[in-house]
Amino acid sequence: MAEQVATNITFHEGTVSAEERVKNMGQKGATLWFTGLSASGKSTIAVAVEQVLLSRGHHAYRLDGDNIRMGLNKNLGFSAEDRTENIRRIGEVSKLFADAGVLSIASFISPYTVDRDAVRSLHAENNVPYFECYIDCSLEAAEERDPKGLYKKARAGEIKGFTGIDDPYEEPTSPELHIKTHVDDLETCVAKVIEFIDAQNLFA
Ligand code: ADX
Repeated sequence: MAEQVATNITFHEGTVSAEERVKNMGQKGATLWFTGLSASGKSTIAVAVEQVLLSRGHHAYRLDGDNIRMGLNKNLGFSAEDRTENIRRIGEVSKLFADAGVLSIASFISPYTVDRDAVRSLHAENNVPYFECYIDCSLEAAEERDPKGLYKKARAGEIKGFTGIDDPYEEPTSPELHIKTHVDDLETCVAKVIEFIDAQNLFA
């Protein structure tokens, strides 16, 4: 857990109510948190879900592991500490997007339960809806896909500490949504996510 370093700071409340924001946006914001192995399909499903939501006139935005690691989190690697900090920062960013009324779709391996639970708590404390979505894929299937050739490199010892090979992935035990990409095709996975979102009463 990151320590509060700055002192002499005071939270400054705004005057816009949650109801006013919902009315303005035509929807309630939320975080849809995709967790799963590299190559499980998180980013692919997120791209398709974002497109469906935008095409329907909703406000959605993707936060993606590789992309965020090229900007905000470019100073972080893959040690346990850095992964924790990666998820902490993204949890904060996603909460802000969701608080602003956007459906934030965050796709990160997020291998540690304690880090995911911290993001969940952050949302709960701020009254922001949060849904954990386990993008489940067997290691065999992820390794078979290997779109970036990273599993091959990890097996060859060219990447150390690769999730699923020589670094842990702690499976979610009670995600709000469980998608199995080694069972269902992309279209079915996307339809299941959209059906789930539609059932959360976020849209006016
Ligand atoms: S997380 O563990 O901190 O949540 P994140 O989702 O941001 O990871 O980034 C994962 C992506 O980084 C993978 O999809 C892969 O492209 C790349 N990557 C590079 N090195 C590693 C590694 N050692 N373990 C996992 N992913 C890695």
